[in-house]
Amino acid sequence: MQKLEIEHLTKRYWLERYEREVLALDDICLSVADGEFLAIVGPSGCGKTTLLNIAAGLLPYEEGTVRIDGKQVHGPGNDRAVVFQHASLLPWRSILGNVRYGMEMQRRFDESTMRQRADYLLKLVGLSGFGNHYPSELSGGMQQRANLARALAADPVVLLMDEPFAALDAQTREFMQAELLKIWAQAAKTVLFITHQINEAVYLADRVAVLSARPGRLKRVFRVPFDRPRKLHLKRDPRFLEIEDAIWQLIEEEADRIGVVIAENEAAVGEPTVWPPQ
Ligand SMILES: Nc1ncnc2c1ncn2[C@@H]1O[C@H](COP(=O)(O)OP(=O)(O)OP(=O)(O)O)[C@@H](O)[C@H]1O
Ligand SMILES: [Mg+2]
Repeated sequence: MQKLEIEHLTKRYWLERYEREVLALDDICLSVADGEFLAIVGPSGCGKTTLLNIAAGLLPYEEGTVRIDGKQVHGPGNDRAVVFQHASLLPWRSILGNVRYGMEMQRRFDESTMRQRADYLLKLVGLSGFGNHYPSELSGGMQQRANLARALAADPVVLLMDEPFAALDAQTREFMQAELLKIWAQAAKTVLFITHQINEAVYLADRVAVLSARPGRLKRVFRVPFDRPRKLHLKRDPRFLEIEDAIWQLIEEEADRIGVVIAENEAAVGEPTVWPPQ
């Protein structure tokens, strides 16, 4: 069964200042099955965040349809939680207070259930014992783990993640990837995960969707064939490197395509820019 269905989604932004339209997404058709982990990669500016914000209900859209559990998305809802690059924790609330926040707003759980869920989630993300700390007292990786617990607390059916590990150092990032897989296996959520790092996408996802350079069009979807649970050393498996390489080639093609456009524009306006200056 499909949890998230995106059909013929086209998104245009109107730039008031330039009285010009920007076509960000062009006719995207993509579905994410119940419990599936789908990663999206593509060149900078190709519309990944736009797509995620539309699915989150944070951005309106006029052309195409986006449905969750068969219901059209018209705004934010308790069925979705969003995790951005920087942990969106409330600085004046303790970690426990942050994890409880969504549940308190929803008023769906009684006090003892909230307490149990918060304890369970802090344990799940390896932060038992840090419930009384404040966000500023935790490292970046710990804050992002707390953020994940916050997102899961409201019990969303779909987790939307926009480069959640981009601000972390390489080692913490790898550790967080492995953690996320463990959490995902236990929490059984449908995940839409955006990243710039191709090996992160291949390591985490069941399928990796590649978008073209702007306007974002769906270029290709790769099925990742590796069993779970996956260990970090999978990243050195030749079959892993093969998929990673194939995705790289597609993205490189896109970069070349943009390069050609830039060269054409330069030819139109005069001498190409040369560096270093002659
Ligand atoms: N609010 C906005 N108003 C006008 N144009 C916008 C707006 N937000 C995004 N865009 C344009 O839409 C396109 C897609 O932007 P988006 O942020 O979705 O890309 P992205 O793939 O997430 O990029 P990155 O990988 O750099 O995060 C870009 O060309 C951007 O300039
Ligand atoms: Mg983005």
